[in-house]
Amino acid sequence: IHNVIFDNSVSGSIAVAHEIAELIKAKQETNSYCVLGLATGSSPIKVYEELIRLHREEGLSFKNVITFNLDEYFPMKTDNIQSYYFFMQEYLFKHIDIAPENINIPNGDCTVEESLLLCSQYEEKIRNYGGLDFQLLGIGRTAHIGFNEPGSHQNSTTRMVTLDHLTRSDAASSFLGMDNVPKKAITMGVATVLEARRIVLLAWGQNKAEVIYETIEGKVTSKKPATYLQNHPNVTFVLDVEAASLLT
Ligand code: F6R
Repeated sequence: IHNVIFDNSVSGSIAVAHEIAELIKAKQETNSYCVLGLATGSSPIKVYEELIRLHREEGLSFKNVITFNLDEYFPMKTDNIQSYYFFMQEYLFKHIDIAPENINIPNGDCTVEESLLLCSQYEEKIRNYGGLDFQLLGIGRTAHIGFNEPGSHQNSTTRMVTLDHLTRSDAASSFLGMDNVPKKAITMGVATVLEARRIVLLAWGQNKAEVIYETIEGKVTSKKPATYLQNHPNVTFVLDVEAASLLT
């Protein structure tokens, strides 16, 4: 794992947005799709802000971009303001020129039985586009990536999972109480993420310092799924000074 430490999340986010923009433009030059794996949550918001600015002010087009989001709560209607579908519309998609049919987000509005097929179709669709060129990640305090909670297998693929208690309590404030936080989610698997050709993980602030230390300096273990990233050849952790504060 290679890490880069920025003074603050603004400068780190701008650097990551510029890497994504360069990749999109390089793909445009060869008339190719750019396949992006995207995350929700607080960590990527400023990256999306800068991508929107590049679109509005510098003509960056997303016409050749295909996106696959990491996860969605289950059960969850897409028009619910708590959904990750809604989040992505608000923080990125409605502000750029991406084609709606190029947006993919796991479907949380189905039965448990239906989700089995939808999950395998999600995997197949990523494969049919030639795999993820770039995967953007945040990290939870359980060391989850996507919603791959402790216990997730390195070979796991897109599936329904049970959210960890700590993850649900971290989400409680945005759901106005723990009781409203869904108990389950659909997430890309660890293997789905690790197959991306390039991975950038964002972590900002003191409350991520411990999990960042465990992920980078700890041994690889299913108890801390983010440690699997140590086995990826092209991953960068983009951190602010606070998130990096426990690294030796
Ligand atoms: C979101 C996701 C999660 C978050 C993680 C950190 O799509 O997959 O793994 O990245 O829970 O969330 P924030 O950024 O809100 O601290």
